[in-house]
Amino acid sequence: MKMFLFALLTVSAVLIGFNANAQEKKMVNKNAKALVVYFSRTGEQYSVGNITKGNTAYVADEIAAQTGADLFEIKLKNDTYPAAYKALTEVALQEKKAKARPEIAGGVANFAGYETVFIGTPNWWADMPMAVYTFLESHDFKSKTVAVFVTHEGSGASSIPSKVQSTTGADITESLAVAGHTAQNDRAGTKAAVSAWLKKIGY
Ligand SMILES: Cc1cc2nc3c(=O)[nH]c(=O)nc-3n(C[C@H](O)[C@H](O)[C@H](O)COP(=O)(O)O)c2cc1C
Repeated sequence: MKMFLFALLTVSAVLIGFNANAQEKKMVNKNAKALVVYFSRTGEQYSVGNITKGNTAYVADEIAAQTGADLFEIKLKNDTYPAAYKALTEVALQEKKAKARPEIAGGVANFAGYETVFIGTPNWWADMPMAVYTFLESHDFKSKTVAVFVTHEGSGASSIPSKVQSTTGADITESLAVAGHTAQNDRAGTKAAVSAWLKKIGY
């Protein structure tokens, strides 16, 4: 009986392992119509000072340039976030604790026409800004392949890719994490990181 239980647990662990891998390793169809959806902030950001184009926006633009994908920026309907970094971190933490779903401006009307969707987000408190959840929950990801990219200042992607997977139910590829200051200040480095990643996921 003990042997049987042990064997059952081993088989289950292997199956679960394979499943997790399969979920993380989905490849894109490089000929499919693709969309890059991203959230990004200007104003004061950690380690880069006052910026007029967000870190994640640089990576989003690079992906669109290399794949020919369309771009959609998630913006708040009423953007009352502070421009100062520390104040923004406090507001963001309150929103995360409250599981807020801030209203966003518009959406992607022809979302059904895209097979591949890139989701780009800064890492906020080891999570996504709540407005990204608003977007994910208000679009139908059935049959889509999702590729997640994250900018951060030390935490990497945290568990953001699996949060995107569980929120959308979509198949997801391997994700990309780029340091915010690299995205902001190192165009060649960002370009190289994006192109290496795109190659890995099927482009
Ligand atoms: C509210 C807030 C929370 C953050 N939390 C983290 C974090 O938990 N880990 C991390 O590595 N970076 C964190 N950062 C840094 C951002 O992930 C980083 O600066 C990112 O590149 C910002 O992207 P953006 O300019 O596109 O908005 C945080 C930044 C903000 C504003």
